[in-house]
Amino acid sequence: MKRTSDQPANEPKAVEVPRHVAIIMDGNGRWAAQRHLPRKIGHRQGVEAVRVIVRAAGEMGIEYLTLYGFSSENWKRPAEEVSDLMGLLRLFIRRDLAELHQNGVHVRIIGERDHLELDIVALIEEAEALTRDNDRLKLIIAFNYGGQNEIVAAMRRIAGEVKAGRLDPATITQETISAHLDTAGVPDPDLVIRTSGEKRLSNFLIWQSAYSELVFTDVFWPDFTPERLREAVMEFNLRERRFGAVGSAGS
Ligand code: IPE
Ligand code: IPE
Ligand code: MG
Repeated sequence: MKRTSDQPANEPKAVEVPRHVAIIMDGNGRWAAQRHLPRKIGHRQGVEAVRVIVRAAGEMGIEYLTLYGFSSENWKRPAEEVSDLMGLLRLFIRRDLAELHQNGVHVRIIGERDHLELDIVALIEEAEALTRDNDRLKLIIAFNYGGQNEIVAAMRRIAGEVKAGRLDPATITQETISAHLDTAGVPDPDLVIRTSGEKRLSNFLIWQSAYSELVFTDVFWPDFTPERLREAVMEFNLRERRFGAVGSAGS
């Protein structure tokens, strides 16, 4: 797939690859239940899908891929499942970091680190430090992430700057808020995909997805393949993004 900008004007319109794709990886538990397996196995299979999709996203020319791995609300799950999910982040970083680095992937983890176990925080820091100069695919993992918490933290930082006399409230703009979020410097997602048939954002990138195209697919995350990703990109190409203006058919 090629970017439209690479395409001469007289050739048919090329497929536009969204610059930033964000995915709510849902349905691991139901994938496992369908097979009479424990939820843990579904999560483990979900990590396999992550590996395949990260590779495919890079090959398709996607610049930013954000994956929702653990929400700030997922602590409500049984302790054993929370511990399994923490273990999988550990496993993913330990097993895949070297290969990601070799492939030029830049890894960034967004979300709150305060309540994570220290060895996980150390692994996150290691992954970010090792890959910080890579610029092929930017892989952003949302872990212990919640959009409302992220906005609260941004507000606290902004209020602190106002209190310290470094910021005049009258100069606060949308850009000020964006620059204080965990995703500072990252373009807003063009396409948000959610697997498993649920049609909600579940606190994922709620500020950043204001004008994202949303694609919902019924497949459970462990069954999500590069082909499904390409289908979502094709659906994105059928959408007309208007950003509040008049569309091409309306003039
Ligand atoms: C997504 O799968 C993974 C996480 C939320 C961590 P689920 O665990 O939510 O799977 P379902 O929705 O119960 O099928
Ligand atoms: C959203 O899925 C969180 C992740 C995919 C990490 P959930 O399964 O937690 O969302 P709800 O509870 O169905 O809204
Ligand atoms: Mg779920």
